[in-house]
This record gives sequence, C-alpha cells and structure tokens, in this order.
Amino acid sequence: MSKNISLNHNSIDRATKGDSSYDEIANILIRKNITLVAHYYTPSEIQILAEETGGIVSDSLDMARYGSRSRSSTLLVAGVRFMGETAKILNPEKTILMPNLHADCSLDLGCPPKEFRLFCEKNNDREVVVYANTSARVKAQADWMVTSGTAVDVVRHLHEKGKKIIWAPDKYLGDFVQRQTGADMLMWDGSCIVHEEFKAQELRELVARTSDVEVLAHPESIKDVLEQADFVGSTTALIDYAKGSKSKNLIVATDKGIFYKMAQAAPNKNLIEAPTSGESATCKSCAACPWMSLNNLISLKESITNENNKIEVPSAIVKEARKPIERLLEFASDSKQVVFGNNDA
Ligand code: 13P
Ligand code: SF4
Repeated sequence: MSKNISLNHNSIDRATKGDSSYDEIANILIRKNITLVAHYYTPSEIQILAEETGGIVSDSLDMARYGSRSRSSTLLVAGVRFMGETAKILNPEKTILMPNLHADCSLDLGCPPKEFRLFCEKNNDREVVVYANTSARVKAQADWMVTSGTAVDVVRHLHEKGKKIIWAPDKYLGDFVQRQTGADMLMWDGSCIVHEEFKAQELRELVARTSDVEVLAHPESIKDVLEQADFVGSTTALIDYAKGSKSKNLIVATDKGIFYKMAQAAPNKNLIEAPTSGESATCKSCAACPWMSLNNLISLKESITNENNKIEVPSAIVKEARKPIERLLEFASDSKQVVFGNNDA
C-alpha cells in the first residue's frame, strides 16, 4: 500500500510549540549549549527542535562533519548508534549524548566485529571499505568508511587504482555501487530491514497508474526498485533532487521521516510513499526505521536533563576507527562529485 503525504508544517509547528515539554527541552538545549544533530529519519518534532535550537538535520555524512565544526562541547545525536559513535570518534574530547543507546541498525547488527575480522583475514589482498552503518569496532578494521552519498565515488577511485575491494555490510548498496563502477567487490551479506521491504511489482503498478511521476530511491533498496528509479541517492541528494524535479508526483523509496524536510524543500510536489506491502509483503513496517523511532521528546529530555546515555568508545578503537573516517572526509572535501548536505555546518 502507498500513501500520499500531506505534511502541514504549521500544524506540526503548533502541535509541538503548544507542548510544554517541547519548550522546556528547547530551553535546556540552549541553556546548556548542547547542539542537536538529527538525522532526517527521526520524528518530525525532533527535526523541528534541531532546526529551532541552532542544530542541524542531515544525512550521515554531514552529521559526521558537523560535530567537529560545532563549538558546543556537548552534542546530542538523534539518530542511530553508529552516528553517535562516529561523532565520538571524530570528537573524543566532546560529550556525545543520545536519546536512546538502544537505537541500533540492522546493518550494524548484521556485521559482528569478530566475524568481520575473520572475513578480512581470509581476503587480505583486498582494500576494506565499510559503510557508515557499522560499529566503531568494524570501522577500526577498515581502510575506508563511506556513506551513501560517497560510496560510488570512493569505490570508483579505488577501482581506477586497480584495487580489489571487501565491501560491508549492505549487499544492496554494494551491488548498486558495483554496477556503477565495475569494481571487483567481495560482499558481506547484510541489509537494511526498512529498504529491503519496498515492493518492486507494486511500485511498477503504482507508476503505471500515476501521471507526471518520478521515482526517487535510497541505494539501500533492492535492485528491482533501484532499476525503476529516476534518481538514486543519499537522503540529502533525494531532497535536493525533489526540489529541482519538474514532475508533480514523486514516489519516494526511503524511510518516511524524510518527508518532513522533503516537503519543506519541495512544497508544491505531491510526495508519495513507495509501496511496502502488498501480496508479497512480509513486513508491516511501512517504511519507518524502528530504531530511528526510539528518538522521541521523552527520551531526549531525559538524556539532556541527566546527561546520561553517553556514547563511550575505547581510545584504542577511536585511534583506529578515525583513520577510515578521516580518509573519507578528506576525499569528500577534494571531490567535486560528492553530494553534500543541504545544511551548512
Ligand atoms: P544517509 O547517509 O543517506 O542519510 O543514510 C543513512 C541511513 O541509515 C539510511 O538508511
Ligand atoms: Fe539502519 Fe535501515 Fe534504520 Fe538506516 S533505515 S538506520 S540502514 S535499519
């Protein structure tokens, strides 16, 4: 089933502004000089709070970069755990809080560090490229970290240098990157439980009965969905594309949290959720990451009031995990092709 999105910013605004805990939380953030760094998939009230208190809402690449540029000594990362860990690795001197430390990610959970080490040891003639959606301990074993907005450029760069690659953990993103670059990539078998559920046949039928339409998809989606997409990109790139699109109707295959910012960037578009259920459906998640949903005003308030839910990463891991992340950040600042976020840090 697909659903048309009609987000009314004024009503979201009124609802959240009328909520005394919203005002209280905003005041605590400002008084304690805590910067809220939120991902597009978090609930809209968290995104509004970030916007209104001088934080940012963005993709994982920009979230990583922003933390280092922020003058606050405490960052509140609203997203999933690997995002908090990346912030800590790049800013070990800062306090990194999260609304909920149980905000995992199926890609991270599906790539245990010990098994990954064995996999790398067996194939030690390859450059190890890991997606941002991995634990600090997995990053510590990698040569490169990439995000959805940088994966194709980094792998193409390595392929042009004649490198063979170990890719982990998302097999769908890896497959997409492989098709774009022609690189020799040995894949880890991981997937995102949200993007894996978009239904290709139902999408085909929806496109057929919708006029003046384009399909936008995140590259963690399955191949059959990506093949129907007019544009494939990171969350930031999808929002930018929606803004510039000439089509009236946009079917979007990614977590529905993105619709808050997408509707803001492209207010005249009719935004439609890509189908997640139908005859072949096994999941009723309806394009909502269960771990991103753990970020709510209650958990956020608790974290900043008591300054608990601190992200800690052992210093030996920080030292190793920093290298692949910094390699990416350096590459991204040199590369003209990399898609940057739409929030300037
Ligand atoms: P982005 O880097 O595109 O924001 O993706 C993060 C993510 O977890 C997608 O599922
Ligand atoms: Fe992980 Fe998928 Fe959730 Fe993104 S949407 S955080 S990849 S489980």
